[in-house]
Amino acid sequence: MTTQKRVAVLVGSLRRGSFTRMVADTLADLAPAELKLEIKEIGNLPLYSEDKDEADPPAPWVLFRQQIKAADAVLFATPEYNRSVPGVLKNAIDVASRPYGKNAWDGKPGGVISVSPGALGGFGANHHLRQSLVFLNVPVLQQPEAYISKAAELFQDGKLINDKTRGFFTSYIKAFSAWINQCQLTKPPF
Ligand code: FNR
Repeated sequence: MTTQKRVAVLVGSLRRGSFTRMVADTLADLAPAELKLEIKEIGNLPLYSEDKDEADPPAPWVLFRQQIKAADAVLFATPEYNRSVPGVLKNAIDVASRPYGKNAWDGKPGGVISVSPGALGGFGANHHLRQSLVFLNVPVLQQPEAYISKAAELFQDGKLINDKTRGFFTSYIKAFSAWINQCQLTKPPF
């Protein structure tokens, strides 16, 4: 029997009716039994400041850092804001990267999925996010890439209605599971 791996899912949108959250929820439903996907909320994290961190780190930061440290892997689902990552997600990334020397993301296998109602599927946000993850030492699944375009057409009442996309999500989450195993087995010198 294999132990279930805990995947912390970060959703880069706080919007009611967010397509990105629908994607994250759908992936959680489609995940194989060996993965447990849990969305970790980031909307309540105060904006990062080193002064606050040195004096008295706010409780939501402390909890969030613990949640990331406790996870076996991290999955980022992000919209694109002005061809980049929404501030709320960048803030969460910064919060868990500090204090200096205590990067909670360090060595966690990762996945990046970008989502947009537009045609480009959030390509810019996807790759800006990957840039931060290089620095944070998160080995990111390379293939399949996940740029989810025309998101408004994929869902009805919050439920995925496109079978081709369901097939893609199923293969993505299986590949992500295999990636987590590979990272844990090979234990590269992260
Ligand atoms: C956007 N949107 C957007 N879309 C896109 O494809 N590329 C972009 O660069 C931007 N830029 C952008 C900036 C800001 C400030 C907002 C509020 C929105 C549109 C965005 O994709 C759309 O609002 C999505 O619905 C947001 O994702 P959720 O909330 O549905 O998950």
